[in-house]
Amino acid sequence: MTVHNLGDQNSILNQFISEIRDSRVQKDSMRFRRNIERIGEVLGYEFSKELAYVSKNIETPLGNKSMYLMQDQVVICSILRAGLPLHQGLLNYFDTAENGFISAFRKHEDNEDNFEVVVDYFAAPSLDGKILVLADPMLATGKTLENVLKGLKDHGTPEQIHIVSVIGAKAGIDYIKDTFPKNTHLWIAAIDPDLNARGYIIPGIGDAGDLAFGEK
Ligand code: URA
Repeated sequence: MTVHNLGDQNSILNQFISEIRDSRVQKDSMRFRRNIERIGEVLGYEFSKELAYVSKNIETPLGNKSMYLMQDQVVICSILRAGLPLHQGLLNYFDTAENGFISAFRKHEDNEDNFEVVVDYFAAPSLDGKILVLADPMLATGKTLENVLKGLKDHGTPEQIHIVSVIGAKAGIDYIKDTFPKNTHLWIAAIDPDLNARGYIIPGIGDAGDLAFGEK
């Protein structure tokens, strides 16, 4: 798996990440959602450089111009519910993409710190020969993505897989390196050092779903 940590470079992306991390700015959930959407747009633009393009003649009112246009069929599959603003950001750029939605939740066992990831709802088109984009804003343990990949096996074999994530923990990224095919790309805006006992990314942002849509 190739990891593209775009927060490593000086760019406006870090402005968006700072705002979603900042507990004072987080209080504005509309701004939080919009910032995640903007991050999706930036990451989407970056991975678009890896796709296949074909030359096509475009007629302007005053002449012709040969342009390179995207050839691949993109399928954006997002993990509910935190993935929704990221999904929207990707869809803003890949407006002809097909869409898939997967629900995943943490089922806590005997105590709060012990949980398994349950993935139980898949609505996705065929992935055969297409570009699969998996949008999961918080890549914490990597268990959700692992289960999602297993569940999507019935939907066919994509030509390429691009994981789009906002913040990842180093341990989670190392975990999915062994789970996903070698030619997978991870596009991520920040990598944080730790996970706490409850599987939250430290320093991270807190609960992305709650910040976007309110506490359950
Ligand atoms: N999901 C979140 O929303 N936040 C984390 O830190 C980890 C998983």
